[in-house]
Amino acid sequence: MCGIVGYIGERQAVPILLNGLKRLEYRGYDSAGVAVLHNGVISVKRRAGKLRILIEDIEQEPLPGTVGIGHTRWATHGEPIDRNAHPHVNPVRTIAVVHNGIVENFLPLREELESEGVRFQSDTDTEVIVHLIDRFVAAGRPLVEATREALRILKGSNAIVVLSALEPDKLITARLGNAGGIVIGFGEDGEMFVASDLPAILEHTRRVAFLEPGQMAVVTRNGARIFTLEGEEVPVQVTTVPWDISAAEKGAYKHFMLKEIHEQPRALMDTIAGRVDVRTGEIAFSTLPLSKDFARRLKKIHMTACGTAYHTTLVGKVLIERLARIPVETMIASEFRYADPIIDEDMVVLAVSQSGETADTLAAMHEGKHRGATLWAIVNVIGSQAMRMADGYISMQVGPEISVASTKAYTAPLVDLYMLAILLADLRGRLTPQQRKELVGHLQYLPGWVEQVLAREEEVYRVARKYMRMKNALYLGRGINMATAYEGALKLKEISYIHAEGYPAGEMKHGPIALLDEDMPVIAVVPQDPWYEKMISQVEQAKSRGAPVIAVATEGDERIAEVADEVFWIPEVPWMLTPVVAIVPLQLFAYYIAAELGLDVDQPRNLAKSVTVE
Ligand code: F6R
Repeated sequence: MCGIVGYIGERQAVPILLNGLKRLEYRGYDSAGVAVLHNGVISVKRRAGKLRILIEDIEQEPLPGTVGIGHTRWATHGEPIDRNAHPHVNPVRTIAVVHNGIVENFLPLREELESEGVRFQSDTDTEVIVHLIDRFVAAGRPLVEATREALRILKGSNAIVVLSALEPDKLITARLGNAGGIVIGFGEDGEMFVASDLPAILEHTRRVAFLEPGQMAVVTRNGARIFTLEGEEVPVQVTTVPWDISAAEKGAYKHFMLKEIHEQPRALMDTIAGRVDVRTGEIAFSTLPLSKDFARRLKKIHMTACGTAYHTTLVGKVLIERLARIPVETMIASEFRYADPIIDEDMVVLAVSQSGETADTLAAMHEGKHRGATLWAIVNVIGSQAMRMADGYISMQVGPEISVASTKAYTAPLVDLYMLAILLADLRGRLTPQQRKELVGHLQYLPGWVEQVLAREEEVYRVARKYMRMKNALYLGRGINMATAYEGALKLKEISYIHAEGYPAGEMKHGPIALLDEDMPVIAVVPQDPWYEKMISQVEQAKSRGAPVIAVATEGDERIAEVADEVFWIPEVPWMLTPVVAIVPLQLFAYYIAAELGLDVDQPRNLAKSVTVE
């Protein structure tokens, strides 16, 4: 959940580190720091609060040096104050470490080190890593060996970068388990980069190598060597990533979230492109090879994910069950491995994850693999752990998503699941060529339909202004759009801090109806889908209890126009694609409420972009 960046080269390190941290601020933003090596001395600056505070500090007192490490933090051990910010250093300041993850045996290690006379300067688990490396260096080990020895003692998932004044010509980096990745960037002219995420280094290079769990690397100005934790050298595989830096810039938009909402037509086009042939209705995913035999043998798909990604699985279930008639079970990833799921080798575990690094999702995938299932994943971040662990994957193709609140990485996987459902149905002989062509044909209009919703942004803004002071909201949906209600509520609560509940509309009468009065707006997702009639009657019930109703409905629907106080209109679209279009006004609604309340839309409190701890 923290952001890491490192640089070694001929240029001044600090501007490069701070720029990298700016691009990673979405990962953690309660404190930040840098350590730079100059003339054999490590200088450190760390500040609680937003990165801007650190930047202002460094402007007053610049730190020279051409090798350094930086960190932006999302606190796990120790409150977000200056002394808990990274990098952490040993007492004589010859070793500095930045860290992402949790040292699970931190308490016994701290006690052991303290009994040896080590004095801790922070409350973090990270500091034990520094002292352990220091211990082995003091015993005469070279830095790489000292780091390896220290890592062997740690329990948990951890990623680190180490800088040492004793060996100034290198950075050591390592990855244990799934606590976020480490990417090594190969620059031109004797410079190299290290980061937890691609956006931190994309402006310098697109040639990168990813560390696998259990690997460490020695990075010098001229390249990198990768080793296992046992010291065995492994070949470095350099890949060129297709994203460029403009994709990670805010441009003319006030917030990344608004930019990313507006990127959806493009993102949908990209996720469809190359996978479907609208003339024939054929679908193929090059990274998810799928035979007729396997599709027909498939007994069940277990879908698992967290948060917004989990909501995509609820839509996926409806699509796959309706079209391919394969039973689908969906389970929140943090529950999956404790649920003793019934899985065998004729089943698939399909994980959905934007980051591909979410600890709970990765753990669920491990559980699936362990029980013999085929692993599939729908992921966005190229080279992520989920992508590499899966037997087959679909990449979302939406480019980097920077805003903590996910938007384009919600709608794109809905489309990926739609395509997957059609493909499975086709392979299982459940579609005529005409039906397949028709279902696939709709996809070409989808980006345009989303554009039409975005064109009504002013209207959403007006309604957001009207309701921005509400304290609670109840989002209702049914069937395929139950997930739209859940997701709309999640968007609102995470960025505006307004309490919002997503509920299956049919359940309202079993409890939540008691909450309804004029202070409890009901946001009802009522597009033209097979659940429409049922939804209308629930909207009427809510209205008759005095609740203001904001509906998401299909253009021309006079019945809803009569009963609802406000309507976000969406164009008429085939019902299986309604979730992709109906969520867009709700994303905008949440965005404008949070923005008008003056909140930090892109970096809401207590959250981080990828949740790499359990
Ligand atoms: C909400 C949001 C989170 C993520 C969840 C899973 O807007 O972004 O709920 O969806 O943390 O993250 P990924 O998709 O990276 O596994």
